[in-house]
Amino acid sequence: MSFSATRLTGSKPDQYAQLLQQARALLHDECDRIANAANLSALVYHALPDLNWVGFYFFDGDELVVGPFQGLPACVRIPLSKGVCGAAARLRQTQRIEDVNTFPGHIACDSASRSELVVPLYQGDTLLGVFDLDSPLPARFDADDQAGLEAIAQTYLDALQ
Ligand code: SME
Repeated sequence: MSFSATRLTGSKPDQYAQLLQQARALLHDECDRIANAANLSALVYHALPDLNWVGFYFFDGDELVVGPFQGLPACVRIPLSKGVCGAAARLRQTQRIEDVNTFPGHIACDSASRSELVVPLYQGDTLLGVFDLDSPLPARFDADDQAGLEAIAQTYLDALQ
């Protein structure tokens, strides 16, 4: 496979439309959840500015366990009762946290992280895991980022079918 990610241009929604196309091309014809999580983490980490961690946690039936990612080594297991990741999984809602230091129970894997976006990954009622992004900048993620990254997470889920 050869894949080239062109630089994103234009408005933020335009850039996310381009990134979504790249994600679809990258995952095309592949349904392996580890392979796709690894490639998607690399794509997003290198395409978007001001990120220090991008990756996946998978639900093992009890806890979230770290999967493929880009960034510094991370905590391996996160109970659903803990952290921003646990909240996204438990509440079935994207968590967009402007300042992780004000989030009760935030788990600091990389002390550089200041803001965080976590998208839960559900197939129907079944929790697969979460897609997690950290930034060293406070309030790095806005509503455009949330919509764009939720669409990319959905592309990941669609590829598993
Ligand atoms: N900060 C997350 C833990 C995972 S790391 O950011 C990679 C949390 O509070 O759930």
